[in-house]
Amino acid sequence: MKKRILFLLLSIQFTSNYLLAQKSFLQKQGTATQLIVDGKPFFVLGGELGNSSAACTQDIERIFPKLERMGLNTVLVPAYWDLIEPMEGQFNFSLTDQVLQQARKNNLKVIFLWFGAWKNSMSCYAPLWFKENYKKYPRAYTRSGKPLEIASAFSEAVYQADNRAFSQWMNHLASVDKEEGTVIMIQIENEIGMLEDARDHSKEANKAFNASIPSPLIEYLQKNEKKLHPWMLKKWTESGRKKQGNWQEVFGEDLYTDEIFMAWHYASYVEKLAQTARSIYNVPLYVNAAMNSRNRKPGEYPSAGPLAHLIDVWHSAAPSIDFLAPDLYDDDFTGWVAQYHLHNNPLFIPEIRLTENNGVRAFYVFAEHDAIGISPFSIEDASDAPNNPLVQSYAKLKELIPLLAPYQGKGRMRGLLFDQTHKERILTEDDLILTCRHNFTLPWDPRATDGSVWPEGGGLLLKLAANEYIVAGSGLVIEFAKNTEKTMPADKKKLGEDGFLQAGKADKESWESNEKETTQTWSGSRCGIGFVDEVTVNPDGSLKYIRRLNGDQDHQGRHVRISVGDFKILHVKLYEYR
Ligand code: DGJ
Repeated sequence: MKKRILFLLLSIQFTSNYLLAQKSFLQKQGTATQLIVDGKPFFVLGGELGNSSAACTQDIERIFPKLERMGLNTVLVPAYWDLIEPMEGQFNFSLTDQVLQQARKNNLKVIFLWFGAWKNSMSCYAPLWFKENYKKYPRAYTRSGKPLEIASAFSEAVYQADNRAFSQWMNHLASVDKEEGTVIMIQIENEIGMLEDARDHSKEANKAFNASIPSPLIEYLQKNEKKLHPWMLKKWTESGRKKQGNWQEVFGEDLYTDEIFMAWHYASYVEKLAQTARSIYNVPLYVNAAMNSRNRKPGEYPSAGPLAHLIDVWHSAAPSIDFLAPDLYDDDFTGWVAQYHLHNNPLFIPEIRLTENNGVRAFYVFAEHDAIGISPFSIEDASDAPNNPLVQSYAKLKELIPLLAPYQGKGRMRGLLFDQTHKERILTEDDLILTCRHNFTLPWDPRATDGSVWPEGGGLLLKLAANEYIVAGSGLVIEFAKNTEKTMPADKKKLGEDGFLQAGKADKESWESNEKETTQTWSGSRCGIGFVDEVTVNPDGSLKYIRRLNGDQDHQGRHVRISVGDFKILHVKLYEYR
């Protein structure tokens, strides 16, 4: 008995030490999943290096100080299998060590990307000895029998070789980083997916395709029936919700069944690597996906990657993976991010095309989608000038983290994002209507009307209390009104750029509504702006006053705005009058 108690106490001690030792982990707060680093919620203000930018020490030394100047708190860096194991069984971790050393020197956390068996579908970062020995490490095949430069996910030898290098590298990482905790997450492989065909047609793959569907997948679908991704629910339902049979019997005969099958096998492979990682150095793990955009079909886009519509397949086969992450290079940013912020998937954007818009988009995802982070691709190509919108945006977001973190997952924040097409968003809060618009909907900036392309405007709105808000970001304007006000005649009047009524009869509509107003009476209260203060945020999340903006800067109390090109944090207090 005594022995059992002692054993129990020791294992409790061991477990709590182990948890304490883990410097980064995911934690739920309300509906959000937060990344906790060194005991605090951490928003990844990141950037991913171009593919070849961490392949020599000189580049790492040159680039990392610039990243710190840009205000990044995290860099996403490839770990290249071919440079780690150039000769079979001989390992070289010098680049990894250099990355960690430079990251620590420049106050950056690191997310490593394991460029192992697959990188953008292909096996380009597998070592030459692996590539040449295609008999031992077989390729995936198209339907017509063409071998691809894609290692087959059905080969035990491929997995053994990839996993051996991965575990050696993880062991090294653990030995040099467990104490420090510079590495905060690991991405396993990069943009996995089959190209040219929706699935591998090698002999082994065909055998698996004609075999019964693994029972854990069916059990998962049954157990999670009410929470399945709508796409998966439809696919399974339309083919009769069968509980056994081979892949085509259960899901029907089409390309998407091939994709589901392939996703199961890619995810099962990744699960084994994830378990390796967990057993050695337990940091959050994710996989990234190239999008199924532009109406392409599986195989035209990388089929079976960790895509939103396949989340149930990935979850059931790879439960050790924490989330699926989108790489965003196409239009419809707001649509894509919404697809990856799911009840069972937090949003993290490991790659987004490097553009001027990244700055406002960062605000948007943290507030609208409780994002874990964002990371423009090929970040070393961006300017580190203080007026670069990304640099301005990261500086403000870094300040805002202690203020925003307690509110994530609690329904108190909204993200705003506007361009020339999507100019306005109307929000309601308590008994207020908030009309939020692109700053160029105001007539004062010549770029609004001279044919210039409007830079995206956006930011966040945080409700601190009734009638008290934080507005932060760039290029936006917000008007506040009681919801009863919208029916009142004053709303129909058009004001000129000076705030006075549009010139009399020259503006017929305005004139008529003004005439009408004189015959109608007001009822109900109005919402006024008590003050707008530009503020900074202290490390404890409290606000520090910089200056009051109650004159021209808020149009004498008519709205709250931040010009295009400026990034600001505003503290707004509203009041009610009759
Ligand atoms: C997405 C990939 O994940 C990156 O490694 C890189 O190849 C970019 N595409 C290129 O734009």
